[in-house]
Amino acid sequence: MALPFLKKSPPKTTAAGLPENLPQHIGFIMDGNGRWATKRGMPRKFGHREGAKNFHDITRYCRSIGIRNISFYVFSTENWKRPQEEVDAIMNLLWEYLNDCDEYLEQEVRMIFIGDKSRLPERIAKRMVELEQDSAKYDKMNLILAINYGGRDELKHAAQLIAQEVKDGKLEAADITEQTIADHLYTAGLPDVDLLIRPSGELRLSNFLIWQCAYAEYYFTNVLWPDFNREELNKALVDFSTRGRRFGGV
Ligand code: IPE
Ligand code: IPE
Ligand code: MG
Repeated sequence: MALPFLKKSPPKTTAAGLPENLPQHIGFIMDGNGRWATKRGMPRKFGHREGAKNFHDITRYCRSIGIRNISFYVFSTENWKRPQEEVDAIMNLLWEYLNDCDEYLEQEVRMIFIGDKSRLPERIAKRMVELEQDSAKYDKMNLILAINYGGRDELKHAAQLIAQEVKDGKLEAADITEQTIADHLYTAGLPDVDLLIRPSGELRLSNFLIWQCAYAEYYFTNVLWPDFNREELNKALVDFSTRGRRFGGV
């Protein structure tokens, strides 16, 4: 939320009542599943199931209103610290999801998985690669799923790739630019995040897309992810449309 003394321009809306200037890339930190379940006296894994349902609906909605890139934080490099039972439940849900993606392919959505696939169960990693290949030809929307993803891990990985190119004589250290780094991230070729949404009341990035969010607009809400519905997203889009993005200019 912008401070009151910052200038805000009233949003211009389309016939559908949505703001005209929609973000090109929205990042979602899908947080609050556990608390959603605990509040209802249910085990945390029920929250993850409910969160996954909501993820489907928000994806459909973004596709229908013409958002070109959406990223979801599904599982972080830090989430392995959780009890094994919860990690297993999340991996099982993920496996179910990966086998239920036909509607995205029918909708010509390109699926991109970011993160370190090497630590994931083999069948999951294999299925992710298949989906990436099967959907590579589509361009209606990029659906980017961060799984075993950490922003610091991504930067470490990029540094290793660049160092190897320098060692092989393909690149001079002095020629490394910001673009070189961007080109070696898991998100190479994708635009930076314009709007980063984190439900559940936590006010942090938790290692999500730290490079790509350098100039993102942040939207935080206390609503828990399973309750973050289309209406909540509309509120975030309206809020985004009133922000004065200066990128360091005047
Ligand atoms: C986010 O919900 C889902 C994952 C991290 C996989 P949480 O499980 O973090 O839910 P809370 O934050 O404990 O409520
Ligand atoms: C961030 O949520 C990771 C995902 C949503 C996948 P966490 O619940 O793991 O983050 P912290 O622990 O609150 O920072
Ligand atoms: Mg959490």
